[in-house]
Amino acid sequence: MSKQNYKLEIVLSGQEIDQSINRISAKISEDYKNAKPILIGVLKGAFIFLADLSRSLDMPVEIDFIGASSYGDKAQSSGKPKVTKEIGINVSGQDVIVVEDIIDTGLTTSMIMRHIETLGPKSLKLCALIDKRERRQTDIKIDYAGNIIQEGFLVGYGLDFNEKYRNLPGIYKLEP
Ligand code: IMP
Ligand code: MG
Repeated sequence: MSKQNYKLEIVLSGQEIDQSINRISAKISEDYKNAKPILIGVLKGAFIFLADLSRSLDMPVEIDFIGASSYGDKAQSSGKPKVTKEIGINVSGQDVIVVEDIIDTGLTTSMIMRHIETLGPKSLKLCALIDKRERRQTDIKIDYAGNIIQEGFLVGYGLDFNEKYRNLPGIYKLEP
């Protein structure tokens, strides 16, 4: 699929993303009083969200990343996600929050949640900036969600198409 000539239509401005992050971080700060959660960002798309979310949190946190196979150069999920980069710190007995850029089918995140569950965390929650509903295939609970978007292929603020557009400060829909 070629999306070279696609137009970018703004979906969330940098300012709107900031507002979502402030709302989420207030909730997390409230829920994890006296705790020191480990934030696990899902590579690569969550790197910018994790950077901004972690700086907006009013508490000590530890940070690591997990890698999962994803779309490659296709705009369709492969349906069989695998862990490609393991978490580097010990999460056993710890409070863990998985930080995702976007939940689409939910297959990648379900696999990641099941995987981290086997590592024996004290608690495990999910935070995602975008809850994209149209193609959901699993019943997945998002404990901290930024914005619901019904449909479309999104880029910017960490999200890519063919590794491009990750550095855009807002989130855009690729439109023909
Ligand atoms: P899922 O397994 O279908 O929920 O998709 C998981 C991953 O696919 C996300 O973490 C993203 O990295 C990627 N993805 C899903 N939807 C989009 C999109 O609209 N734009 C860019 N990447 C996406
Ligand atoms: Mg991702």
